[in-house]
Amino acid sequence: MKTRALFLILVTVVVTGMAFFLCACSPPKTEPVKPVSIPDGEYDPAVWGQAYPLEYDLWKKTKDPKPASKSKYKKGWDTDLVVYDKLSEFPYMALLFNGWGFGIEYNEPRGHHYMLIDQLEIDPSRLKAGGVCLSCKSLFAPKLEKEMGVDYFRLPYLDVHAKIPVDFQKTGVSCVDCHDNKTMALKITHPVAQRSFPLMGVKWEEASRQQMRSLVCAQCHVTYNIPKDEKMQSVGLFFPYEGSKEGDISVENIIKLIKNDPKVGEWKQSVTGFKLAFIRHPEYEFFSRGGTHWKAGAACADCHMPYVRIGANKVSDHDVTSPMKKDLHACTQCHAETTQWLRDRVIAIQDRTVSLMNRAGYATATAAKLFEMAHKAQAEGKTIDKGLYDKAKDYYLEAFYRVNFIGAENSVGFHNPTEAGRICGDAVAMAAKSEALLRQALTKAGVEVPAEVNLELAKYLNKRGVKPLNFRPELEFKDPFSVQDMIISPAAMGK
Ligand code: HEC
Ligand code: HEC
Ligand code: HEC
Ligand code: HEC
Repeated sequence: MKTRALFLILVTVVVTGMAFFLCACSPPKTEPVKPVSIPDGEYDPAVWGQAYPLEYDLWKKTKDPKPASKSKYKKGWDTDLVVYDKLSEFPYMALLFNGWGFGIEYNEPRGHHYMLIDQLEIDPSRLKAGGVCLSCKSLFAPKLEKEMGVDYFRLPYLDVHAKIPVDFQKTGVSCVDCHDNKTMALKITHPVAQRSFPLMGVKWEEASRQQMRSLVCAQCHVTYNIPKDEKMQSVGLFFPYEGSKEGDISVENIIKLIKNDPKVGEWKQSVTGFKLAFIRHPEYEFFSRGGTHWKAGAACADCHMPYVRIGANKVSDHDVTSPMKKDLHACTQCHAETTQWLRDRVIAIQDRTVSLMNRAGYATATAAKLFEMAHKAQAEGKTIDKGLYDKAKDYYLEAFYRVNFIGAENSVGFHNPTEAGRICGDAVAMAAKSEALLRQALTKAGVEVPAEVNLELAKYLNKRGVKPLNFRPELEFKDPFSVQDMIISPAAMGK
């Protein structure tokens, strides 16, 4: 025990030392730009582009397909035009999200150019919330929200979309979303971010340049909630940050805010019948919760918009994408290791995360199926012990939102590996606890529960509405038991 403690101290000292050493070599700065004043109210990126042609050309490149083969999990989209589908890749998500749009179509992200196009093309069930869905997709969203007030959130998506000037009805995030038109300094422009950042103690008007290099992304790459009125119409939009601090927005705090607030219950999970909230792409929350790179002072832009040399100029790479697709050029500003070493590290972290996430996901899906059984038993007049049921439900919700969180976070664990392990580990334990309580309640009610719960995954996966889906042939789903056994059987544990 003593040698182990000593070893741990030694490791901590070495790691901290290395972190300090690495911090000392912060990424190189660009030559200061001489700002060209852009007229107030100018939205057109092409006009901004006349003043800043290099950034404009790079920004346009988010349209180009990226080599999918360079990422193991974040394939995005490639020249083969396959849009990668999360539900086929992680079948338990099809079960857990069944009941609304996310259980029908849930794709991996691709370039910024496509954000609005993809939204217009996705299954319409995903846009039921209304105009509010435009909030992280259109450069006109802040303007529309200010002009339309609550109608912006509430009116049907296509009605609000029609108010965007025709030339920009397919344009995604643009210069005006991130920059001040006079100084070109970074700027927070989205009203939801302006009202939510102060909840975690961030005065965005006074934020440092390095903070802003993450906060501009956190206007969209965060989780959010859409409160509803009695008629289930959207009446607002906020980030669940109350009680959290910058650098410490925990999944626990997010769950605490959404678990018992009926106003943010957006959908009904079909398998359990529970009204639930939902967690979306919490990149900023997850990354900033004390991970190695956050502690080292890195910002989103350091890895996703590194400096690139174009002729005699050095500019920020506005072709925002996965650093893997750019051969980890961004990492070499701070890391002396080879590209191959870095790539292997990223994939090792992601493999570990997926293995834990799948375990948590299947365990949560199993508990969901037991709730289905308990509800059936109740409908048949059997009595389910309320104490056991309520406890099981609480554990289930805790596990569900953790699985939802880690599955929605887009780095597959890389942004904060230890946090990913912690969240998934808790989810596995909570789902197991829920399952045990439900088994006890069902047995008490005289219902026999089989050792292996049939998840009926094929049912959830293969019947998802009318739209042809982009199944990947190698992932085609066949036997409901095989996947589950592969991942959670004792023989597979520890792999
Ligand atoms: C998603 C946010 C975002 C969008 C959209 C965006 N930029 Fe930037 N831009 C940044 C960030 C981050 C930096 C780095 C700023 C820093 O380090 O202070 C930057 C830097 C710049 C700079 C300073 C020089 C450089 O390259 O580092 C210019 C000029 C610029 N952007 C122009 C544009 C133009 C023109 C557009 C639209 C075609 C645009 N940007 C769109 C985030 C954005
Ligand atoms: C206005 C909202 C918005 C802002 C601001 C924003 N993003 Fe995005 N981002 C999105 C959306 C939406 C997608 C998914 C697009 C799709 O799949 O159609 C996306 C996709 C991405 C992707 C995946 C790209 C690929 O090639 O697969 C990366 C990486 C990314 N964003 C990083 C960033 C970073 C870093 C910043 C800040 C410099 C940022 N984003 C700012 C909304 C935004
Ligand atoms: C230390 C480097 C680093 C930092 C800092 C960082 N990321 Fe990432 N990010 C990565 C890596 C590596 C991946 C995994 C890419 C892959 O597997 O292809 C990733 C993945 C992503 C993806 C999914 C990309 C895709 O192609 O689907 C998004 C979106 C994203 N990051 C946004 C952000 C945002 C927003 C921030 C800041 C809150 C941030 N990242 C901070 C390195 C970083
Ligand atoms: C702003 C500087 C900076 C950038 C950019 C950066 N890193 Fe790091 N990275 C660090 C520091 C500092 C540490 C902590 C000391 C160490 O372990 O080397 C670290 C640690 C790591 C670790 C150890 C595991 C962990 O997360 O705790 C991995 C793996 C890693 N970085 C990969 C990458 C990859 C891949 C990229 C590019 C996508 C990248 N880094 C970009 C500074 C940076």
